[in-house]
Amino acid sequence: SAAEKGGYDYFMLKEIAEQPKAVADTLLGRIDGSGSLTLDEVRIPTRVLREIDKVVIVACGTAFHAAMIAKYAIEHWTRVPCEVELASEFRYRDPILDAQTLVIAISQSGETMDTLMALRHAREQGSKVLAICNTNGSTIPRESDAVLYTHAGPEVAVASTKAFLTQLVACYLVALYLGQVRGTKWGDEIRAVIRDLSSIAGAVEQVLGTMEPVRELARTLAAKDTVLFLGRHVGYPVALEGALKLKELAYMHAEGFAAGELKHGPIALIEEDLPVVVVVPSPRGRSVLHDKIVSNIQEIRARGARTIVIAEEGDEAVVPYADHLIRIPATPTLLQPLVATVPLQVFACELATARGNEVDQPRNLAKSVTVE
Ligand code: AGP
Repeated sequence: SAAEKGGYDYFMLKEIAEQPKAVADTLLGRIDGSGSLTLDEVRIPTRVLREIDKVVIVACGTAFHAAMIAKYAIEHWTRVPCEVELASEFRYRDPILDAQTLVIAISQSGETMDTLMALRHAREQGSKVLAICNTNGSTIPRESDAVLYTHAGPEVAVASTKAFLTQLVACYLVALYLGQVRGTKWGDEIRAVIRDLSSIAGAVEQVLGTMEPVRELARTLAAKDTVLFLGRHVGYPVALEGALKLKELAYMHAEGFAAGELKHGPIALIEEDLPVVVVVPSPRGRSVLHDKIVSNIQEIRARGARTIVIAEEGDEAVVPYADHLIRIPATPTLLQPLVATVPLQVFACELATARGNEVDQPRNLAKSVTVE
């Protein structure tokens, strides 16, 4: 009913708007007064967390994109090798697992069969499993050794939005916690990121306030067949997520690529007026990547692409090559997905509406996939 949707036309719009609160709720009570993480709820002894020599994350769909981003954070902050695998592929290839492997299963619903089967397999091999889940008491957390709940609140729309942002927050918390417990050389950076996380809900709110041009742009693209998405570093999974949202909702051909792969094939797809969304890393931090992506934008635009550029405020280098410029607030490099994903959600939702599609219940899809 209209009341359930809180005055919005679709649950998806309501859930997009709820993201600042969802993010803040997922952080609530997990950072103490001194700026350290208190994740006692993760009932895996710190002794065990100190001894693990590998992290493996399994998930499907949007949760898999959160996992890909988690890998960058975990490896950077903890120096523990991290693998990420689609849950549906995992157990069928006899993965190498033992008691020193921490397996993380990410699932909004907690009922996804592929993810459940993957975690059962991991536990049979003696690995500890930590669930990151949004649904209290669901099967995946019940069958795991420990759970870190995301506090997004119920997500009704089939296309995942607020659950994704809170999965990212939970992944950052786990990565930072592992860093804290194990003591890495990134101690100062870890403390700084914990501070930055505390203000990230405000940044998400800020992005939400600037989405009208994104909606306008989406409406002008309603008759297109294809949209491509490019990103690099943590922007790569964001590009994949933008493409998945567009497939699910707008039923358009959408593909995400790692920008560095362009010259290895995908650049052949570029033709006159093809919309290409590019997620640009911060010019601060890993600025080499920034410069490389700017030249990618130049290359595709020279071949006729219509460039839709998502870039940090104050990033002037992209201006000459952006047909459409979407600004996001500055964040630490690894946290950028929390703000960069939001315009892509709004874009997909508006395109779906413009194409007359059912936003909350896309064709052929179910909210949770309880068969393998
Ligand atoms: C996201 O928009 C999708 N509907 C889908 O990819 C989803 O993320 C996937 O099925 C995993 O679901 P889960 O998080 O409930 O396990």
